[in-house]
Amino acid sequence: MTTLTITRPDDWHLHLRDGDMLNAVAPETARDFARAIIMPNLVPPVVTAKDAAAYRARIMAALPAGSDFQPLMTLYLTETTDPADLAAAFADGLISAVKLYPAGATTNSASGVKNINNVMHVLEKMAEIGCPLCIHGEVTDPSIDIFDREAAFIETVLDPLRNRLPDLRIISEHITTKDGVDYVRSAAQNLAATITTHHLIINRNHILAGGIRPHYYCLPVAKRETHRLALVAAATSGDPRFFLGTDSAPHTDPNKLMECGCAGVFSATNTMSCLAHVFESEGKLETLEKFASLNGPNYYRLPVNETTITLTKQPDPVQFAPKIETPDGPVTVFDPGFPLYWSASQ
Ligand code: DOR
Ligand code: ZN
Repeated sequence: MTTLTITRPDDWHLHLRDGDMLNAVAPETARDFARAIIMPNLVPPVVTAKDAAAYRARIMAALPAGSDFQPLMTLYLTETTDPADLAAAFADGLISAVKLYPAGATTNSASGVKNINNVMHVLEKMAEIGCPLCIHGEVTDPSIDIFDREAAFIETVLDPLRNRLPDLRIISEHITTKDGVDYVRSAAQNLAATITTHHLIINRNHILAGGIRPHYYCLPVAKRETHRLALVAAATSGDPRFFLGTDSAPHTDPNKLMECGCAGVFSATNTMSCLAHVFESEGKLETLEKFASLNGPNYYRLPVNETTITLTKQPDPVQFAPKIETPDGPVTVFDPGFPLYWSASQ
């Protein structure tokens, strides 16, 4: 197959940042994607309906003229979140979900949740109104090995939470382990997971073997190959509980290439080409539409997009700009480590 037309995809986990960075990266996502769930981990974070409305307006202003891209806003859950403000924002359609960051788990998560019991009244309200909860599923206990933090979170936080609030609709974000895949598969209802482009392609050797590769460092950190294979099997299975969330997270090169470099992979530019390559390699191109375009809206109870994109396999590798220029410095585009032959057109 050399061309594949699919329903226009959505990105169910995206960092757009703010200011100059927002202006630089928003067009990269708006090119191929119709909608994206926008992460609220700005400084300061997007915590109230008022913050979300203002951020949404800044995103709309950063889009290229004529773009019909739709940002789906989220609130950053804190221990002082007002359930009434959240519920009104969800009822108005201003927000599509709420994001739970365990405090200290990742970039700009200091205002996150220290003790889940302190937000239980908010989560109860969300379960009642059907508002989805996106979770960064890693424990932050420094004594837990970083490669085990996802599995520990499932056991000590996620499973007890699901037992306590079975009606809460949860998205386990950017799962990176076979444990995460198996846990989602074992759930009868109200649990889905996003999988990133880069976690389908790299394992921890790509970060650490033969020299350290800061551009592959992200959180949750990529795990060993058996876990990557479990993610590929889940993404290409067509199972409606798995869908695309790129977690495309731009940081400038100076902020990546420093003594304590930032976590994040920027994949907005070439995600659809990378995914076509991965799905074709598995002999599963026919399930790409489910993963990128159908399963996400079905779980979020939103309509599927009416427009399409066409992926075309070129005879020669497609050349993507290796970096996006911003006034703060360049942002390196994810390098999958192999030539890309698929290009996307609208
Ligand atoms: O690698 C990551 N980068 N993981 C996250 O959870 C946050 C993100 C960011 O905001 O840079
Ligand atoms: Zn993220």
